[in-house]
Amino acid sequence: MSELRFDGRVAVITGAGHGLGRAHALSLAERGAKVVVNDLGGALDGTGASTGPAAEVVELITKNGGEAVASTDNVATPEGAKAIVQAALDSFGQVDIVINNAGILRDKSFGKMTVEEFDAVLAVHVRGSFLVSHAAFPYLKEQGYGRIVNTSSPAGLFGNFGQANYSTAKMGLVGLTKTLAIEGARAGIRANAIAPIAWTRMTEALLPAEFEAKFTPERVSTLVTYLAHESCETSGEVFSVGGGRIARVFVAEGPGWKQDDHTVEDIRDNWEAIMAEQPYLTPTTIGQQAGASMKAML
Ligand code: NAI
Repeated sequence: MSELRFDGRVAVITGAGHGLGRAHALSLAERGAKVVVNDLGGALDGTGASTGPAAEVVELITKNGGEAVASTDNVATPEGAKAIVQAALDSFGQVDIVINNAGILRDKSFGKMTVEEFDAVLAVHVRGSFLVSHAAFPYLKEQGYGRIVNTSSPAGLFGNFGQANYSTAKMGLVGLTKTLAIEGARAGIRANAIAPIAWTRMTEALLPAEFEAKFTPERVSTLVTYLAHESCETSGEVFSVGGGRIARVFVAEGPGWKQDDHTVEDIRDNWEAIMAEQPYLTPTTIGQQAGASMKAML
């Protein structure tokens, strides 16, 4: 079987100074991609900044014979996002792959969460992924090729106590990914999202110690690397990934219950049918979903 290579490809990876982004950067660079290693270098809650983490990853890639440049720009500002993409253009002349990975945490139970804590988390994850993708989009479109990988989370897909801000952001990224997949399709742009689990500074205090050896960032980077490759034509999907396991996560709609003129009590009395899961649909566009509703009207 031939090796999946990235020679001639340029990847922008945000939040690549630590954890998952670092592993993605090393994986792509090892396979020949030129990489912009972006990282603000702040703390887990997004405060502070440092040039250290991005520079260290660039040094490691270079030492291993790869090509990389560091960017310490903030993904959450339009200027920062533009500068990240510009670094790819200035250093390597193009951009082919965008991996939106930068993230922060400001966990707090819902009643105690401040507006600032909510906004700060959405700014990095949602605004940041939008801005960096948006800055790269004209170049991807122009060249008729691109791969975008966004970083969602099981916390967004399924909910998690203390993470109203984070889970809102992470489910938001699913919507962004699906629409990017639709809007990018004709230009050869594929967009997917991962919902990872890995031992990093973000999770080391939460996961049992035995996870460290099994839930390595590298076991997430293999999927990210595949999704970033030109041979992967899949788009608009979300994958649960970690510890060696990979599974498609899909948004499904049940078969539904229908009665034209129904009362509130009819809904109560047919709740089981409304809640039924089988046979489900997995629409890939709003049109497909609307089609199902229209079919039910006939
Ligand atoms: P991490 O804290 O090691 O990495 C996140 C990186 O993003 C840090 O290096 C940080 O400096 C950088 N960053 C934060 N704000 C930034 C900004 N405004 N601009 C540029 N860089 C910024 O954490 P980890 O675990 O590697 O997280 C990577 C991504 O994976 C995040 O989006 C996180 O939410 C997501 N994730 C991680 C999971 C896990 O199990 N580790 C689970 C689910 C999602």
